[in-house]
Amino acid sequence: MKSLLFSRFLLLLPWVLIVIIVLDIDSSRAPLPALSPRGAAEGGSGGARPPAPRRRPEAALPTIYAITPTYSRPVQKAELTRLANTFRQVSRLHWILVEDAAARSELVTRFVAGAGLPCTHLHVPTPRRYKRPGLPRATEQRNAGLAWLRQRHQHLPPPQPGVLFFADDDNTYSLELFQEMRTTRKVSVWPVGLVGGRRYERPVVENGKVVGWYTGWRADRPFAIDMAGFAVSLQVILSHPKAVFKRRGSQPGMQESDFLKQITTVEELEPKANNCTKVLVWHTRTEKVNLANEPKYHLDTVNIEV
Ligand code: UGA
Ligand code: MN
Repeated sequence: MKSLLFSRFLLLLPWVLIVIIVLDIDSSRAPLPALSPRGAAEGGSGGARPPAPRRRPEAALPTIYAITPTYSRPVQKAELTRLANTFRQVSRLHWILVEDAAARSELVTRFVAGAGLPCTHLHVPTPRRYKRPGLPRATEQRNAGLAWLRQRHQHLPPPQPGVLFFADDDNTYSLELFQEMRTTRKVSVWPVGLVGGRRYERPVVENGKVVGWYTGWRADRPFAIDMAGFAVSLQVILSHPKAVFKRRGSQPGMQESDFLKQITTVEELEPKANNCTKVLVWHTRTEKVNLANEPKYHLDTVNIEV
């Protein structure tokens, strides 16, 4: 009797095991997230966001809003292409592209449509009197980005986890930078490479606090930091509705300080990038392109957007 039972058990065992394995595979498949919805290029005033699939780990991540001023010039599309190639790899990044122009250009409009990431396309021209060497650039464009952000969020209930940073179109950004800035509580800072006449500038950190600045240029700046060297939480942007970039009295290199002193203090800054000892963004500047041999009148048989 015992041996009969045992042989039955042995006969059934492989089948039971197969059923267990199949069930297990099925249940481990179930919670896999759907492919993330991307590529929704959204025009000027914004639109409804697609509902986030449930159980998506990145759904809890604060959105990173990158405000990029940009202006028409021969290298513009190349710069935007480099930037989009970086941003496309960052989860939950919303690109606010602000053209320095009286109207949206066809080039940027087409580019945004094919960029493959959530994007808001704004425009505002810099008044002619401010388009002079030695004057701060992109003041009106960054303010337009801030205004859009505030308007979009004023009717939504808190908390709206989000982080803002100013991403000029010619800099070089590592993917690690976005991981660092994502945890910004109020205002975070980090080193910037190739700026201020040195290989890098950085906030000097002692016991986890910023106590000074390593810089070779205008060390008297209250925040001796480039635009690419800090991020601000959305909450801080919303709770300081008057904080903007100012034209009046603003000197070259002081835009960052003038803005930051409206929203924070040096003591409050949160050092990122391993206590500000790693360079994760570079203030690269693209060489002016040589168009010496460009014909005066269109000679080619086709018209190509460059
Ligand atoms: C440095 C800082 O890195 C900038 O953040 C700061 O705005 C600038 O100085 C300044 O002096 O205001 P720099 O490399 O000299 O940057 O400036 P650009 O890269 O030429 O311009 C900064 C941003 O403004 C870029 O995204 C650029 O596309 C945009 N820009 C520039 C305009 O929208 N309109 C312009 O006429 C010029
Ligand atoms: Mn630049």
